[in-house]
Amino acid sequence: MGSNGNSTESWARRIRECRACGSTDWQNVVSLGEVPLANGFLEQGHSYDDEPRFPLEVVSCRGCRLLSLTHVVDPAVLFREYLYVTSPSETMKRHMRRVADLCEERFGIPAGSLVVEMGSNTGEQLAAFQEDRMRVLGVDPARDLAAVATEHGVRTLPEFFSATSAGHIREEHGPARLILGRHVFAHIDDIADVAAGVRQLLRSDGVFAIEVPYALDMLERNEFDTIYHEHLSYFMVDTLAAFFARHGLRVLDVEHLGVHGGSILVFVGHQDGPWPTRPVVDQMREKEQRAGLHDDSTYSGFACSVEETREALTRLVGELRAEGRRIAGYGAPAKGNTLLTTCGLGHGQLEFCTDTTELKQGKVLPGTHVPVRSPSYGKEHRPDYYLLLAWNYSEEIFRKERDYLEAGGRFIVPIPRPRVVTASSAN
Ligand code: TYD
Repeated sequence: MGSNGNSTESWARRIRECRACGSTDWQNVVSLGEVPLANGFLEQGHSYDDEPRFPLEVVSCRGCRLLSLTHVVDPAVLFREYLYVTSPSETMKRHMRRVADLCEERFGIPAGSLVVEMGSNTGEQLAAFQEDRMRVLGVDPARDLAAVATEHGVRTLPEFFSATSAGHIREEHGPARLILGRHVFAHIDDIADVAAGVRQLLRSDGVFAIEVPYALDMLERNEFDTIYHEHLSYFMVDTLAAFFARHGLRVLDVEHLGVHGGSILVFVGHQDGPWPTRPVVDQMREKEQRAGLHDDSTYSGFACSVEETREALTRLVGELRAEGRRIAGYGAPAKGNTLLTTCGLGHGQLEFCTDTTELKQGKVLPGTHVPVRSPSYGKEHRPDYYLLLAWNYSEEIFRKERDYLEAGGRFIVPIPRPRVVTASSAN
């Protein structure tokens, strides 16, 4: 990331109208202060003085109940040199296979079809479609990752997906049977431009499948650490259905999935396309209504839960440190950085964080500057407690860390409420 001292004003803009419906009637939900970028890992030993910070605040649109950040950081700053690589975990591998199966089975996608993925990262999801003999094309602005994917046989254009790039893809490759966007649609500011691109590139019987974190899960499970600058929007089905209808598209089907703390895979087609709208779409919209997602009080209740959890976690960690316990972070996910910076937990509390991603090892966390180490370092410097920052992989991690737990090691699971997990409670 380039640096221009502490002046970050030119890198971010404050939103005015809702990106989904155009309303300007906002409810303030939660303000998490001035926070560095959650994937802005830094080189160890450098001066951290000019680390950029941006306001991290969430508002809810009273027009369509889109939850949105108030500030949009320039996507070139966020995504051109991206350190986030898809976690090579068993959970993710299984999940990507499932996504491919769901798309192919529900919408009868034959071998040889063109599958385009926006935000395709290192190409692992597209590789699952390649196994099924689809023609695949990735689109990702992170130049390094696009090059890695292409090297591994998944051709990837180093670009942002937009109406313009969609037009070029159609000219060169023809219309797409499937356009995929896994955990990218919520990162995009100009979603109307993406919808226009999808309309251009998608065949008349094609499907646009997006996977986004589910706002209902985030609110009910108090997953406030999933709030960071990349996540501009937090969607429910109702908001998406109304948005796509405004852009000549229709939500056809929804699958509720467990990944990333609860996500929805939303299938979208042309408004007048051949696929029926499945009953689950209206069922989920009704469930959201019943859960109070259209009411101001739900969002003020969430703000209180966030505050309680921050206090409870800070207290628990403080007590353990006062007893002389050694604590380290398990995983260095982006969400961990929101958690640590907004709870004021840093060097004094965590000795280090382990992470399996080699690109992160040897660097320090943004904001708190806690060093990131390899899992083998963690084994050699075994802490009394691991704060489980990558809680979305808890089952896999507890299985993998059976020996640590059996030897008396403990995990602090921070979300939804901080709790301590031992060998006997880890099942
Ligand atoms: P991820 O869930 O993709 O979260 P985010 O979107 O918040 O960045 O990141 C998980 C991180 O945890 C990733 O950096 C890899 C790391 N990790 C481990 O260190 N050990 C593990 O066993 C697993 C499953 C993940």
